[in-house]
Amino acid sequence: MPTDRHTVSFNPDGKSVTVKAGTTLLTAARAAGVRIPVRCEGKMGCLMCKVTLEPPQAGVLPPAEGERRKLGGSLDAGTRLACQAKVCGDVSVTTPEDPLKRAVRLQLERQNQADDDFWR
Ligand code: FES
Repeated sequence: MPTDRHTVSFNPDGKSVTVKAGTTLLTAARAAGVRIPVRCEGKMGCLMCKVTLEPPQAGVLPPAEGERRKLGGSLDAGTRLACQAKVCGDVSVTTPEDPLKRAVRLQLERQNQADDDFWR
């Protein structure tokens, strides 16, 4: 029996949420407590809400012309705008790493490498 509710899983957060068909990935992320930073609130102006789907384009409706123009060839790699992509099946979403967390992670990796080099 077809259902109009689907599970959206977010990586690397490991969180998931069940939403109605037609819900955007951005709304689903917020319902799951996953933070996707944005500036334009869904007007396709900031492009900060890019996410990656695995497998590419599975579980979401095809992009409209506007999103297709904004993303170009990266659509083939599974990139979508979370504010535009609408759920139509179960979907696995990878969100971009928070810029502050990324900066801390890279600094720690550099420090660990420097420590390793020192003790060799
Ligand atoms: S929220 Fe700005 S482009 Fe999606």
